[in-house]
Amino acid sequence: MASSTASISDPEAWKDLKGHVEDIKKTHLRDLMTDANRCQSMMMEFDGLLLDYSRQRATVETVDKLLNLAKAAQLTEKISRMFNGEHINSTENRSVLHVALRAPKDAVIKADGKNVVPEVWNVLDKIKEFSEKIRSGSWVGATGKPLKDVIAIGIGGSFLGPLFVHTALQTDPEALESAKGRQLRFLANIDPVDVARNINGLNPETTLVVVVSKTFTTAETMLNARTLREWITAALGASAVAKHMVAVSTNLALVEKFGIDPNNAFAFWDWVGGRYSVCSAVGVLPLSLQYGFSVVEKFLKGASSIDQHFQSTPIEKNIPVLLGLLSVWNVSFLGYPARAILPHSQALEKFAPHIQQVSMESNGKGVSIDGLPLPFETGEIDFGEPGTNGQHSFYQLIHQGRVIPCDFIGIVKSQQPVYLKGEVVSNHDELMSNFFAQPDALAYGKTPEQLQKENVSENLIPHKTFSGNRPSLSLLLPELTAYNVGQLLAIYEHRVAVQGFVWGINSFDQWGVELGKVLATHVRKQLHSSRTQGTTLEGFNYSTTTLLKRYLETSSEPQM
Ligand code: F6P
Repeated sequence: MASSTASISDPEAWKDLKGHVEDIKKTHLRDLMTDANRCQSMMMEFDGLLLDYSRQRATVETVDKLLNLAKAAQLTEKISRMFNGEHINSTENRSVLHVALRAPKDAVIKADGKNVVPEVWNVLDKIKEFSEKIRSGSWVGATGKPLKDVIAIGIGGSFLGPLFVHTALQTDPEALESAKGRQLRFLANIDPVDVARNINGLNPETTLVVVVSKTFTTAETMLNARTLREWITAALGASAVAKHMVAVSTNLALVEKFGIDPNNAFAFWDWVGGRYSVCSAVGVLPLSLQYGFSVVEKFLKGASSIDQHFQSTPIEKNIPVLLGLLSVWNVSFLGYPARAILPHSQALEKFAPHIQQVSMESNGKGVSIDGLPLPFETGEIDFGEPGTNGQHSFYQLIHQGRVIPCDFIGIVKSQQPVYLKGEVVSNHDELMSNFFAQPDALAYGKTPEQLQKENVSENLIPHKTFSGNRPSLSLLLPELTAYNVGQLLAIYEHRVAVQGFVWGINSFDQWGVELGKVLATHVRKQLHSSRTQGTTLEGFNYSTTTLLKRYLETSSEPQM
């Protein structure tokens, strides 16, 4: 990326927004919401989606100033560089081309001068063929039985995205129908409890294990893969691995070394970041095994629709751009460090955990892309629960405690509508009543005067007062099909990129995850030598020594 050593906080556009904060502090959403023209300008529609950001603490002027900031940050140019395959992930010297994973067959997207779309489709075609063989029963296990259950082993980006999409599709009528008689499970945690839960009730004879790891070196994934290899070979013999284990990786040499037939490996490329890999074989293979390729193809098409919008729509009408700019406004100017992701859909219960990685691993950085300390903080703390569960959990804090900008995500048509005769509304209408009410409760609050009029006793008035003026945005999806799930994913992926582009950081590396892994290696060595040779603890501080000592003395882990 053509980067400059100047911080984005230097240009006038940043200073202008800093000054503007004082104007906004004088406003209340209660008043801003009375301006119909303002509200109308803060509605955006694209491909069936409706975004309403009128409950952000922003005026039309704020949005103009944010667009100026985008220009100062050369946002449009940075987006183009991403789509053009430039090595914008400069610390790893890589292109960032997850958009190529869902591009139409005839698209041309180049990395290092080469069109990568044909390679993408070679792998997609291979997945289609393989998943059809498994699903039809023409590929059978070592004892001749069809493989109806799949355990996908992987962690981080090799887990969270596929889990989110799987969870979202589970009750979609079309996906549900095509998954009949099949199970898809995910093994991520190195905790042996996760292994036990995954294999519980499954028969190795009818199980296919998909090992998903970009690097094929991740400690958790490799130990879990060896554990399930043992589970299979103990029951069916060593030769069963060829029929019961396949892999998804960029490191095909290590896949072969592990003992998986390279013909049963599904490649992806170093220009796909782990947390941006759900549209590669990482997600497409397990999801196609469960739902069939045609359903997954719809998911890719939904993501691609947003990619095209993101690439070609002017910034003032560009949904991921506007969302990203508003997040920058909330974090860097209004000083709100967190963001709540509140899908009003049980099917989206794994959306927030996925976005936690996409957002926090991407934008939780301490230096600029040039390696200079940042004069401001980046990233936000993402968390969330589906509505209405969240209401009965942490909404107290977001209504009367801390100010946390909220993303309300609603679905017009339920995947599984229920209407009970005699009820006031259908079950989905009941859910959606909350989707429509909560943003106003946050924005308007409730004043002591209103409470007095309701004859609330004086001593309770302070407790029942809601200050309001708490920002949120609402995103309404027409339904939750595979296509819409793809749209939602791409909106958030690009929003995170926009934030990083504006902050001037590298949103595509993740050096911050390394140190803990290195320290765990020292501990692993120590545990091994203490357990097998009784070696005394060495090289740890007082605290870790005490904890390790207690662990070694009181645990009864098997000795090697
Ligand atoms: O958590 C660090 C990380 O490198 C993530 O970025 C990645 O998604 C995850 O580990 C898993 O990596 P791999 O797919 O190489 O096993």
